[in-house]
Amino acid sequence: MSIVLAIETSCDETAVSIVSQENGSLCVHSNAISSQVQLHAPYGGVVPNLAAREHTKNMNLVLEEALSKANVNPDNLDLLAVTNAPGLIPALLVGTATAKTLSWLWDKPLIGIHHIEGHIYANFVSPLDTKRNKTTPQFPLLALVVSGGHTQLVYMKKHFHYEIIGQTQDDAVGEAFDKVARILGLRYPGGPEIAKKAHLYRGKRKDFSHETLSEEIILPRPMINSNNFHFSFSGLKTAVLYAVQTYRKEHTLEETESLPDSFVEMMSWQFEEASIDVLTTKALRALHQYQPKSVVLAGGVSANLHLQKTLRKKIDKLSPQTIFFLPPLGLSLDNAAMIGACALLRWEKMSTKEKVQAKNTWKSLETYANLSLTEISR
Ligand code: KG4
Ligand code: ZN
Repeated sequence: MSIVLAIETSCDETAVSIVSQENGSLCVHSNAISSQVQLHAPYGGVVPNLAAREHTKNMNLVLEEALSKANVNPDNLDLLAVTNAPGLIPALLVGTATAKTLSWLWDKPLIGIHHIEGHIYANFVSPLDTKRNKTTPQFPLLALVVSGGHTQLVYMKKHFHYEIIGQTQDDAVGEAFDKVARILGLRYPGGPEIAKKAHLYRGKRKDFSHETLSEEIILPRPMINSNNFHFSFSGLKTAVLYAVQTYRKEHTLEETESLPDSFVEMMSWQFEEASIDVLTTKALRALHQYQPKSVVLAGGVSANLHLQKTLRKKIDKLSPQTIFFLPPLGLSLDNAAMIGACALLRWEKMSTKEKVQAKNTWKSLETYANLSLTEISR
């Protein structure tokens, strides 16, 4: 059995987790997370220096919680892991400085993990497999990465080998959810707020005749027919902005006045439908061309139930032999368990020499604001 202590501070969550691997299965013993969402909400997004200050404040408390919940003594750890890219540099530095210090102090090997790689590998932790319980994703694998900073289709023919076959040309889908929420006067983070409003509208749409609902606006599906696997969400966000401006003009609503719930619900529904339509259409096209054995959903937007449902339905229809995976409950949003899971699988594949060298990682590990998965592909 191997045990890792993993740290994640790339954005606004201070997270520490203890994960073990035994007989090929990855088990999460603790998944301590301190979220700063409330702190950043008034700013409508994450303020890097504020995030770093808060990580510094909470790090040792979260570390203590993770160790005590898992009932693990540092002596029993085989290795340490930390997110070192991509992310907000001031935030990343708190996690990497902590991990480097602990590695030196406890004389344990340290592995730096890419945040998006972590999101993908969350699917290898006791996956909620829709068909065969307790299997893990099989290669070749197609990952639909949907987070606040990334929207990518990643093809993996084997472990830790990443080919980005398509990605957003402007905003990430999570970022678009957050920006649209702001336009509609909803709280940060916008994803869950939009999802709630869209769900309400979907229910009402079934129960009432359309005349009683706010007049429906059809939003564009940018790049849905483009002959590649790329995405674009900035135009979709702007289309919402224009629709809101037109609505305000027509209903003589001042900028400072709130939009009526009925309109906010309808726009949230339409935005969710449009973005999910584009994401799933492109993913299905990639599935058709690349014929992977598994499809995994990764990143914070994978918590969106309508996205999960739509993608599963489309995969079942087009390619019933493909196994679809979602991150286990609690591992969709930023967490350190996914970093630990990824590190354990990396550790398993490392040579004895590499394992010895990992004891010196604390001397040289760097942080990177931007680092593509292709740059760490092996
Ligand atoms: O992966 P994540 O926690 O952080 C990054 O790596 O960026 O993703 C955060 C993003 C935010 O943009 C948030 O609005 C979005 O995930 N999100 C959602 C939902 N829950 C979180 N988007 C849509 N529906 C949700 N239920
Ligand atoms: Zn993330």
